[in-house]
Amino acid sequence: MIKLHDKTFEPYLSAQDIQKAVLEVAGSLKKDYANNDRPPIFIAILNGSFMFASDLMKELNFDLELSFVKFSSYEGTQSTGVINELIGFTQDLKGRDVVIVEDIIDTGNTLEKVLPILDSKGAKSIKIATLLLKPSVFDKKYQINYVGLEIPNIFVVGYGLDYDELGRNIKEIYKLSQ
Ligand code: IMP
Ligand code: MG
Repeated sequence: MIKLHDKTFEPYLSAQDIQKAVLEVAGSLKKDYANNDRPPIFIAILNGSFMFASDLMKELNFDLELSFVKFSSYEGTQSTGVINELIGFTQDLKGRDVVIVEDIIDTGNTLEKVLPILDSKGAKSIKIATLLLKPSVFDKKYQINYVGLEIPNIFVVGYGLDYDELGRNIKEIYKLSQ
């Protein structure tokens, strides 16, 4: 058990579980992009995806570009639905194959705001890779192309994911205790 702020969390996914999910996503990406005519651009959404992005990139043995952007939609353990652009896209995405890298997709609100921004920059294709997905909460029309693990509607921390900014540095993933 660990305590972050006022809440207690219990072990949920081990470092090994996470590694397995990373390898699975990496395997699918290799199949789709290893022989791409131009290196794809991976866009990781900060802060949560930094650890997943790092481990995932190390498994990809083909030419790629990597960039980070920062949005925010979360306060405490509830998605606020309000997304503020904090750091914009600087890259020229015209004609490029883009893969968005997310730590977790919950309602899908964040990506629903991000996708049109990328679309307007003329990307040739836009795919989404996420370590975790909460399928019972996700209610958007767009497709999520690469999923490491599906989880129920629980609040998790660790491996980049935070509870009010704490917990991002934990190697494993913990869930909120009832
Ligand atoms: P969405 O916009 O509801 O899909 O939420 C996406 C963002 O909310 C993710 O990138 C995370 O930063 C954050 N988030 C969603 N679920 C969790 C969770 O269980 N723990 C910590 N952060 C979460
Ligand atoms: Mg996030």
